[in-house]
Amino acid sequence: MFQVQKELVSHEAVVVALFEDEVMSSFVKELNQAFDGHLQVLLDEKEISPKKKVISKLHSLGKTDTKRYYFVGLGKKERYTTETLRGTLGKLAKTLQSAKVKNVAFMLDSFVTDKMDAIDVAHIAAETYFLGTYELLTYKTDKKEAHQLESFVVITKEDPQEIEAVLTVGYVHGRATNSARTLVNMPPNMLTATALADYAVELAEKYDMDYKVLEKEEMEELGMGALLAVNQGSTEPPKMIALLYKGKEEWTDVIGLVGKGITYDTGGYSLKPRESMVGMKGDMGGAAAVLGAMEIIGELRPEQNVVAVIPSTDNMVSGTAFKPDDVITSMSGKTIEVLNTDAEGRLALADGITYAKKLGANYLVDVATLTGGVIVALGNHTTGAMTNNEAFYEQVLEASMETDEPMWQLPIFERDKERVRNSKLADLNNSPGRDGHAIMAGVFLGEFAEKTPWVHLDIAGTSDTKSAHDLGPSGGTGAMVRTLATLVESFGNEE
Ligand code: BES
Ligand code: MN
Ligand code: ZN
Repeated sequence: MFQVQKELVSHEAVVVALFEDEVMSSFVKELNQAFDGHLQVLLDEKEISPKKKVISKLHSLGKTDTKRYYFVGLGKKERYTTETLRGTLGKLAKTLQSAKVKNVAFMLDSFVTDKMDAIDVAHIAAETYFLGTYELLTYKTDKKEAHQLESFVVITKEDPQEIEAVLTVGYVHGRATNSARTLVNMPPNMLTATALADYAVELAEKYDMDYKVLEKEEMEELGMGALLAVNQGSTEPPKMIALLYKGKEEWTDVIGLVGKGITYDTGGYSLKPRESMVGMKGDMGGAAAVLGAMEIIGELRPEQNVVAVIPSTDNMVSGTAFKPDDVITSMSGKTIEVLNTDAEGRLALADGITYAKKLGANYLVDVATLTGGVIVALGNHTTGAMTNNEAFYEQVLEASMETDEPMWQLPIFERDKERVRNSKLADLNNSPGRDGHAIMAGVFLGEFAEKTPWVHLDIAGTSDTKSAHDLGPSGGTGAMVRTLATLVESFGNEE
């Protein structure tokens, strides 16, 4: 779909950037001449605007070989950031999609400044095209075929091979993020733990990765009492899913990605009120993020070992379900007093983390829609992060800044650990109360990461969204897919 060319030839739609403080770039000057100076009039009259996130359309009326121009406002050059570029190009993608444009020529060099190189622009352009045009997979009986772009031609003086390679990376990142979105949006009667495992196995086979899906009996043998407790009330069998990507000769220096795969969270006997139960189909957002990242890894094949682990089940109520007051034994051997069956994610993840370590993980990142508390603390744009290793956290943070997926660190102090370790009957309790409960969930997981460098990402606020945004519709966002993949791609590069 992507091509790179040096010169612009006649086209259906041409996309060109406009900056407020330098509207008349060389290309715009040429165009203005072709339009006998009328482009300047349209700019003066603000029919065409260089303000950020404004897309202006102009029909050439036969003055040039191109049919339509799309001017992309980016605001002032000094305030130009990758975030502005992403948001603006996301809007552009939607505009082109709804106008059913088939062939686009993208004037790449017009987007390049001292602060933004051609590589960044190419990556973001390809990625946001896919993010911006993502459409919900629906079960409507009268649904229409989505419009498909035929060609996206990038016009640039840069090395075409280099730009083409970056476009592919952007495209892969965008598409995998959309895969995660689709998983998050899937209804829970369709996306069971079994279906999630089938999806993961298909992915592993496609990209020639090793995999292992543990069934209930094997979990029992391995003593995964925490995940099994969450599954106790369900008629759906649990799955512990593991994908192993070997990017090095030896199985050392392994990054473990552990994703919460609760396919539906009723809360169990600590039942959720009916208003907060709706939407809990998205409680496998962490698993979706990990699988999205594995798709990117499978496509781009970085030289880094990765093990992905997804503990998966739904959290249901029945005569066999686990209860508040139960004491359970996790795979690590640590015992847990269950005070709240709605704090199920940390139980499933505890065994997920222990299993990832057993499979060789030397570094751990867990991703989970873990707490309502993180939404209260940080809102819906910022992922909550915690760590036991600042140097490793820096690397994750760096990846998140590169992908414009903001995260903010919450602290772990000794007194927080005391609250999690406070149980008369067991080593730990799973719910020390509402105060700082996002932190409590992270601290609990840290007890299982132990000495292994670990970062916890709470995406309860960022994994799905109630309203459409520049980079997609309401629903699953695919949060952290690109951050995790970028971490893996760049891991060890700094040393
Ligand atoms: N899956 C929820 C967290 C959640 C809440 C995700 C809102 C997305 C949106 C998690 O399992 C949960 O129920 N957490 C409880 C923890 C509490 C019992 C300590 C919560 O946040 O209330
Ligand atoms: Mn819960
Ligand atoms: Zn949950």
